[in-house]
Amino acid sequence: MCGIIGYTGYSDARGVLIKGLKTLEYRGYDSAGIALYNKNKNVADVIKCKGRVALLDEKTKDAAGTCGIGHTRWATHGSVSDENSHPHKFGEVTLVHNGIIENFNSIKNQLGVESMLKSDTDSEIVAALINAYYQKDKSPEKAIIKAVKEITGTFALGIMFDGIEDTIYAVRNVSPIVCCQNDDGAYIASDIMAIGEYSDNYFILPELAVAKVDRNGFFITDFHGKEIKPKMLKLDWDIKNNGKTGFPFYMEKEICEQPSVIEKTIKSRTSGDMPDFSGEKIDESIFEKCENITVIACGTAMHAGLIGKHLIEKYCKIPVSVNMASEYMYSDPIINEKTLVICVSQSGETIDTLEALKYAKRNGAMTLSIVNVRGSSIAQASDNVIYTDAGPEIAVASTKAYTTQAAVFYLITAKAAYIKGLMSKDKVRDFIRQLNEIPSAVQKVIDGRNEIHKLSNMLLTAEHTFMIGRGLDYPTLLEASLKLKEISYIHSEAFASGELKHGTIALITDKTPVIALLTQERLMSKQVSNIKEVQSRGAQVITFIKSSLKDEAIKCDFALPDTADDFTAIPAVCAMQLLAYYVSSDKGLDVDKPRNLAKVVTVE
Ligand code: G6P
Repeated sequence: MCGIIGYTGYSDARGVLIKGLKTLEYRGYDSAGIALYNKNKNVADVIKCKGRVALLDEKTKDAAGTCGIGHTRWATHGSVSDENSHPHKFGEVTLVHNGIIENFNSIKNQLGVESMLKSDTDSEIVAALINAYYQKDKSPEKAIIKAVKEITGTFALGIMFDGIEDTIYAVRNVSPIVCCQNDDGAYIASDIMAIGEYSDNYFILPELAVAKVDRNGFFITDFHGKEIKPKMLKLDWDIKNNGKTGFPFYMEKEICEQPSVIEKTIKSRTSGDMPDFSGEKIDESIFEKCENITVIACGTAMHAGLIGKHLIEKYCKIPVSVNMASEYMYSDPIINEKTLVICVSQSGETIDTLEALKYAKRNGAMTLSIVNVRGSSIAQASDNVIYTDAGPEIAVASTKAYTTQAAVFYLITAKAAYIKGLMSKDKVRDFIRQLNEIPSAVQKVIDGRNEIHKLSNMLLTAEHTFMIGRGLDYPTLLEASLKLKEISYIHSEAFASGELKHGTIALITDKTPVIALLTQERLMSKQVSNIKEVQSRGAQVITFIKSSLKDEAIKCDFALPDTADDFTAIPAVCAMQLLAYYVSSDKGLDVDKPRNLAKVVTVE
C-alpha cells in the first residue's frame, strides 16, 4: 500500500506534494512525509511525522523548494512511528517506497549497515543499497538498476540524490507509478488522481524501467539503457470535481451517487435493451467457449462476485467458483482453456488479484476483468476489460464500486445466457428492462434513509451483531456485515439463516441484535422461521423486507422497494450501506478513513 508522489519544476513543490498526498491518503494514513531539495545546502531535507497529512501540512508550512518527493504510509515493516515514516535517507540517497521488499534482511546483512539504520523498515535498506552502489561511480541510473536487480518483492520508488538538483528518479516493479507534465514541471504519483489536475495526458511508467524526471519531462530507459517511449493515455474522469459537495463524508456522497452511476454503467453497455459490450471490444467468444467460470477478487469486490455466481449459475448454467485472490494460486486451481477467469477490482491495483490474474493467464485461462480505475494494472493485464462507471471512489469503504460491479454481472449474465442460447431475445430484453429499474429502486432506498438512520440507533451500543438471510440475500449480507465491521468496529457475522442453528446460535443473546433481510419469495416462510428461532433466544431483530413480501407473521422495520427477486441485491445492499454509515457517523468515527485500513492493498 502507501502512496508516493514526486514533483520537479518551477512552482512550490511543497504545495504540490501535500495536495497530492491528501488525495493519496486512501492508500494509507499511518504517517506522512516529504523531502524537498535544498539548493543552498545541496541536499534533500526530510520532514516526516506519524499521523495524517494534515499534520504534515502544519509541520511543513515554512518549507520551500521546487523539487521533492512525498509519501503517505500504511505500515507493513515497522510500527507506526516518526522514524518509520518515509522518506528515508541513507548517505546521499533519499527515497519513498510503495510495496514490500522480501529480501531486506539478507541485503541488510550483506551491506553490514544495521547499526547505521534509523528505522525498522524494509524501505530504508533500499536507500542503503542504492547509496552503496552510488558511491562507486556516482551514476544514479546505474546505482538504481544494480540495486533493484538485487531486490525481490514489489516496489514503486521515488528517489533523490544529494548534489543532483531539480531531479527525481522513478522505478517500479508491479506497484504503479503514473507520470504527467505541463509547463510548470513534471509529476509522478501512485495514482493519477493525485496529479491529474495538472494535465489530461499521462502515462504509466512501464515495469522495470527507470525514469529520470527533471523540469522538462521524462527520460525513460530499460535496465539495459535502451530508451522507452511510454504510451500516452487520456484522462477521462472528471477528477477536479471530487469534493464532498456538502455531504459530511465521502461515503454518504458515494452512496447517494449510486442511482446515477449504476444507470450510467448499464446504459453505456446496452442498446435496444440488449447487453452490448462492443464499446469495450469484448471478445464475445469467451462466453460461448467457457464451460466454467472462476471469479477472483478481494473484500467487497469478491462479494460482488458472489452475486455474479448466483446469477450466472441460474441463467447461464455455467458453474462458477468465487475465490479469494490471496488464496487462489496456492489452492492448486483447476484451469483449462474452457475456464473464464473474471477478476473484479475497484482500484485495479490489488496485488493479490493482479498476481492471481497473471497466474490464471499463464495457465491458459481466458480472462475478463471488471475494473473501475481506467488503465490500472489489472485492466492492462487482462485480455478483456469491462469498466464500471462508478467514477472516483474516495471513502475507504466501497459502496458505488460494489453496486456497479454487481450491475456488470447482470449484464454479463444476460449476454452469456443469450450467447449460450439459454435466453431468447425477448427474455433478455425483459431481464435488461428489470435491470433498468434498479437505479430508481436504489433512489427509493436513499429517499427513505431517515428511517434507516432511526433503526441504526439499535446498533450503537452493540458489540456483536449477526445478519441472516437466505438465497441471494446471503451474499448481500456478507457485504453488509463487512461494511458494518470496517466502519463501525462492531463485530458482525453474516449467516445463511438455516446454518445459524448449527453452532453459532449459541452466541445469540438479548445483547446481540440480529439484522434480517427478506427479499426472496420462495424462501420467505423458511426465513421467518429462522427469525423466530433467534427472537425466542432474546435477540432484537431488525427486519428489511421487500414491500410485496410484507406479512403479518413478521414485523417489517424497513420496506425495500419492489423488484423481481433476482434484482433485489443492489437496493438491499444500499439500505445496509446506509445502516453501517449511520452507526459509524453517530459513533463519531472517521467514516471515510477507518482505523488500520487502506483502500488499495498493494501488499500480499
Ligand atoms: C481493500 C478495500 C476494500 C476492497 C478490497 C479490494 O480491502 O478496503 O474496500 O474491497 O481492498 O479492492 P479492489 O480495489 O481490488 O476492489
